[in-house]
Amino acid sequence: MPRDPRYDVLFEPVKIGPVTAKNRFYQVPHCTGMGNRLPQNLAAMRRVKAEGGWGVVCTEYCSMHPSADDSPFAYASLWDDDDVRQQALMTDAVHEYGALAGVELWHGGHHAVNRVSRLPILSPSGLPLHYVHPQHSKAMDRSDIRNLRRWQVDATKRALNAGFDIVYVYAGHGYLPMQFVSRQFNQRGDEYGGPIENRVRLLREMIEETKEAAAGKAAVAVRFSVEELIGSEGITHDGEGRAVVELLAELPDLWDVNISYVENDSWSARFSDEGFQEQFVKFVKQVTTKPVVGVGRFTSPDAMAKQVKSGVLDLIGAARPSIADPFIPKKIEEGREDEIRECIGCNICRASNNEGAPIRCTQNPTMGEEWRRGWHPERMQPQRNDDAVLIVGAGPAGLECALALGRRGHRVLLADRARALGGRLNRESVLPGLATYGRVRDWRTGRIATMPNVETYPESDLSAEDVLGFDVPHVAIATGAIWRRDGVGHATHHPVPGYERPDILTPDDLMDGIMPAGGRGSAVTIYDDDQYYMGGVLAEKLAKVGFAVTMVTPGMEISAWCRMTDEQFRVHQRLDSLGVRFVLNRRLVAIGPDHLRLACTYTGKEEELSAPSLLLVTGRTPDMSLYDRLSSDQDALKAAGIRSLARIGDCLVPGAVVHAVYSGHKFAREFGETIDNDAPYRRERIFLA
Ligand SMILES: Cc1cc2nc3c(=O)[nH]c(=O)nc-3n(C[C@H](O)[C@H](O)[C@H](O)COP(=O)(O)O)c2cc1C
Ligand code: SF4
Repeated sequence: MPRDPRYDVLFEPVKIGPVTAKNRFYQVPHCTGMGNRLPQNLAAMRRVKAEGGWGVVCTEYCSMHPSADDSPFAYASLWDDDDVRQQALMTDAVHEYGALAGVELWHGGHHAVNRVSRLPILSPSGLPLHYVHPQHSKAMDRSDIRNLRRWQVDATKRALNAGFDIVYVYAGHGYLPMQFVSRQFNQRGDEYGGPIENRVRLLREMIEETKEAAAGKAAVAVRFSVEELIGSEGITHDGEGRAVVELLAELPDLWDVNISYVENDSWSARFSDEGFQEQFVKFVKQVTTKPVVGVGRFTSPDAMAKQVKSGVLDLIGAARPSIADPFIPKKIEEGREDEIRECIGCNICRASNNEGAPIRCTQNPTMGEEWRRGWHPERMQPQRNDDAVLIVGAGPAGLECALALGRRGHRVLLADRARALGGRLNRESVLPGLATYGRVRDWRTGRIATMPNVETYPESDLSAEDVLGFDVPHVAIATGAIWRRDGVGHATHHPVPGYERPDILTPDDLMDGIMPAGGRGSAVTIYDDDQYYMGGVLAEKLAKVGFAVTMVTPGMEISAWCRMTDEQFRVHQRLDSLGVRFVLNRRLVAIGPDHLRLACTYTGKEEELSAPSLLLVTGRTPDMSLYDRLSSDQDALKAAGIRSLARIGDCLVPGAVVHAVYSGHKFAREFGETIDNDAPYRRERIFLA
């Protein structure tokens, strides 16, 4: 299909200093949990982005020197020529498709704890570290500053040898050059401290020297956070953030602007909308003639075109949208924008980073699997046989499995008891802040609707007999999971005495429309031992309709795992603003008729808490009823010609939506293939000399 002319503007080339991006799609630096440990995996992933049409594809944060060591988190590095060889894998891959390769040279200052290198942690003024750690940073003296400038220059030269087209000076997200800009962290009395003109001195020198080292062979970009969202203590877009851009306006070849720290920059969809950074960065183009790239979870081509046409941005920066769909530019270019797999803003990609694991994505199950499993987001290997597959359950696993099998060419029959396909996605996407989860459903149902080989059977509550009568050789059960009613969770491994209390509710009840007793003003206690989003989301829902909510958790904080998705502090803020009361570090030991017995998770000391109305958000159990009935009668399966029966998604192992989608995709990829489950994927190894 021809491209919609409304989006022509997105395909205009943009000159960035001595190089030219072929279009306005710019994959900003984002980490992958792979860094210098998994260079081939990394290069294959970035190659897919370039193939998907991004005009610029950047690295993640790329350490310039061993004093910038973020271990155990994976980061790229350009410390020596071996690192150059690693990085060249990425630049070669990116250049294959005519994209520019950008490298984000990084020094973390007091964010880089140097756990492996064991070098002194550097910072402008030698304070306790930003993250709690039993070490302080060293106040950089003049020779440290000279060294830092030299490291940036040396790394720039290596970057050129590695083939990069854009080299960054990275003064964002609270890292070292930004620490010099910041009044909070720069308390120096010399020419690098004091007024803002002095505090930008280091950044200015680094830009000038990087330009000199780049010698017109690569563009020099500055990534700078113009806002920290901490008020006048910090950098503000209408205060010192603006002043910095004004002072350095024409110096770099490109301004890459955003807000800090990363948890603000990668703001989740639960708490922000597409384009949320415009209010902070729109001034930048007014004070510089250099091209400007900005971010804001852009997935809509209209929103992207508007950013350019209204003069806010020259280049559309994307981290998460390019993770969820590496082919966004190609799809827009080919008039297939309805095929864009939109990021849902769940921040599972951030969680993998925060947990030190290679990158994972809810929407894109192939992310991070490009090299080791050979998965491609746009291509499935053709079917090995023409067997049909019946999938029972059209939640995230069933939908993804049906789509992926259908793309391989199989005939697929997808049944669900509900009228609307989507399973848990339908139920959860109507909860506060989770509307975008509906995109996991919508993208898949939209694609499936175009595939004649995938038949859907809504409102089909299949019994075992029904399945046996379908005349298909393979059945995958994707009937999901059920929230437990017995209190078993992370902290409690056996049913809690008193769990038979008849009025106890679970998230399933609330999602079925059952509300706690009473109404406005009535008290309800939520015991949250799931500790991800569900407890907090239901607390929000109940508080908003007037319940007096108390949230009890064995965790040290509310919705503790949301720390991994960079959302925990916002969950706390929102629930606090709604008047939710928090009881932390308390494990449920018994449920009484109108109260709970709780034990302190540290001391075991017990106490009673009044709980006339109780919602348990704890573990889940796979809904295996249909699977069990089928698998218990092997003769019947044989007689019906069913050669394989499998479970996928939450019905196999309950998890987050990301796990269910992955499970469905994996089943489809491996269907009919010979898989060595003892060595299921390629590994990158350290070879002994
Ligand atoms: C998984 C992940 C890793 C990131 N790592 C980096 C990084 O290494 N360097 C950096 O400057 N920004 C990093 N960011 C921030 C992004 O570059 C981007 O500015 C932010 O996510 C907002 O853009 P988006 O809404 O398009 O995701 C990361 C973001 C994500 C989601
Ligand atoms: S994990 Fe979630 S937030 Fe991250 S790219 Fe995928 S869909 Fe978007």
